[in-house]
Amino acid sequence: MLVLGLETSCDETGVALYDTGRGLLADALFSQVDIHVEYGGVVPELASRDHIRKALPLLDQVLADAGCAAGDIDGVAYTAGPGLVGALMVGATLGRALAWGWGVPALGVHHMEGHLLAPMLEAEPPQFPFVALLVSGGHTQLVRVDAIGRYRILGESLDDAAGEAFDKAAKMLGLPYPGGPHIARLAGHGTPGRFDFPRPMVNRPGLDFSFSGLKTHTLNTVEQCRAGGRLSERDACDIAAAFEEAVVATLVIKCRRALRQEHLKRLVIAGGVSANRTLRSRLQQALAREGARVYYPAPQYCTDNGAMIAYAGAVRLAAGQVDPPEAPVRPRWPMEELPPLAVAGG
Ligand code: KG4
Ligand code: ZN
Repeated sequence: MLVLGLETSCDETGVALYDTGRGLLADALFSQVDIHVEYGGVVPELASRDHIRKALPLLDQVLADAGCAAGDIDGVAYTAGPGLVGALMVGATLGRALAWGWGVPALGVHHMEGHLLAPMLEAEPPQFPFVALLVSGGHTQLVRVDAIGRYRILGESLDDAAGEAFDKAAKMLGLPYPGGPHIARLAGHGTPGRFDFPRPMVNRPGLDFSFSGLKTHTLNTVEQCRAGGRLSERDACDIAAAFEEAVVATLVIKCRRALRQEHLKRLVIAGGVSANRTLRSRLQQALAREGARVYYPAPQYCTDNGAMIAYAGAVRLAAGQVDPPEAPVRPRWPMEELPPLAVAGG
């Protein structure tokens, strides 16, 4: 089954073609970062308008790259939520219109399920069950995954998401949006240990996160270092290193705790922050010591992309799941509300 995937939930237009027999055939992405950078964050209306401009040219591109014709497509998957309502509506309206015109089924995909399943596109995908750490700009969640659609939230952020914390810390250091990659770059030049930032909530039992205290600590440190003048390059790098270290250490502690609690040895990390190299290598080291293994998507499939939506949609469409034309987009959509995958023929 050949499925077209459309991702338009935020500031990336992603379009991909996934075939349940042949795998990922083509994938194209347009990032709107340059459009939003001057505002220091995503402007929803500008995001929606640009998705309208880019979606069809990207569709032509993936068809050409895959050597396919529109008539070969057997189903359309679009991100139905969570995300910005206007941006979601662009993908949903286009996806349903195309599906209707082509006479094929359409399905709204949950953006975080897309992230969660992105490691399935890799050569050695994880087996179920596993624990997933979803770390993006809008979510920080630990999820027990028993099968597709069988999700139990083990813990989540009580305030900012991890990616949001990276973005806010970057802003304090005068770095552009989205801040995660910039913090990571500066952290690479920082002196480890010069500043010791608090690791939020690690001494409390449970698997929830909170990044607001770390944010305040970062701001206070920036202000102390500035002390009337400009922040020096060295101070900025050392603060970035301390911030990244605190977030990574916290995530590693909670992931190990979640695996122990669930008696599992497989961890999946996904979402934009899972592109962070320090997080990837530290988790790998920490888990290897316990005979556990970490799985993550290729870097280009950590941040938003169409391939993950095409994959998640293809699995569900192939199992017979379809959305009616009037299905609403869901700007807020708890992942636990997703139905389990239908058993083929059942
Ligand atoms: O998954 P994603 O592309 O979009 C959402 O669904 O939110 O995640 C974007 C987030 C941003 O907050 C960005 O700063 C963060 O992921 N991010 C990173 C890195 N690359 C992206 N954070 C830390 N280190 C990175 N290398
Ligand atoms: Zn995302």
